[in-house]
Amino acid sequence: MRHLLRAGSLSKEQVYDLFALAKQFVHSTAPIDEQLFVGNLFMESSTRTKTSFTVAERKLGLEPLSFTSETSSMTKGESLYDTVKTFESIGANMLIIRHEQDDWMDDIAPFVNIPIVNAGAGKAEHPTQSLLDAYTIYKQFSQFTDLNIVISGDIKYSRVAHSNIHLLQKLGANIYLSAPDELMDQTLDLPHLSMDEAVERADCLMLLRVQHERHEQLLATSNYLEQYGLTKEREQRMKDRAIIMHPAPVNRGVEIDGDLVECDRSRIFEQMENGVYVRMAIMKQLLINWGLVSCQSY
Ligand code: CP
Repeated sequence: MRHLLRAGSLSKEQVYDLFALAKQFVHSTAPIDEQLFVGNLFMESSTRTKTSFTVAERKLGLEPLSFTSETSSMTKGESLYDTVKTFESIGANMLIIRHEQDDWMDDIAPFVNIPIVNAGAGKAEHPTQSLLDAYTIYKQFSQFTDLNIVISGDIKYSRVAHSNIHLLQKLGANIYLSAPDELMDQTLDLPHLSMDEAVERADCLMLLRVQHERHEQLLATSNYLEQYGLTKEREQRMKDRAIIMHPAPVNRGVEIDGDLVECDRSRIFEQMENGVYVRMAIMKQLLINWGLVSCQSY
């Protein structure tokens, strides 16, 4: 692994190695001695991913470089490519990038000599979210084989859904989709369920928000919860051991009843906590792979 650009590029062995490293980081962190800089280039809004990477970097002893696209020279027309090359030239040792294009990675990764982590690519990929989701599921069930995972909501426009389908299928889970017709990705050859079927089938119900910012037409959501969302009545019909997940941000009262966000079976805030350890593992592994730190320091 030279970069982390797509969830599907990871082998099962690499995934489980990252899980093992993340688990170690829960209990202890040996900060990296070398002075290493990480550029956090977020060109789309973020609360969790950006903050999680910053905390993960500081816990590892790395130095985050602040960047805000609105106050950067991108406002003067500088491209993503030239911004990346600038950070590399100035001394960044690794870059964490989020950008609205689905395939920005192909225009960047072959031309830089430092590790790149994809923190979100349009509606196509969010591999670190996928890894933290898989880690959360693994912590709960200790395996993936024969687990029924239902991904529900705005699948068509969701990078989380696309990355999770690649990764969770590779790990052995059964994936089902549940969405209104206009939010279903019809290119995906996976079984469809209504939400009433989904709550009874799922061991893990992974909810997604409606991504209005990516839609060309405004989708009315006044009846969304009753028709497609997780209501309290539907939650009562879930299996005893089933869990609820959501990458967040959550639109309470749309894809999920607001009172269920922190219910016993919800893992929504645990996902965020796990994300710090998983991102520490990803960055540490990449720095080892590039020979920038030794593997003896953990
Ligand atoms: N889950 C996620 O990517 O959240 P942010 O957009 O807040 O980073």
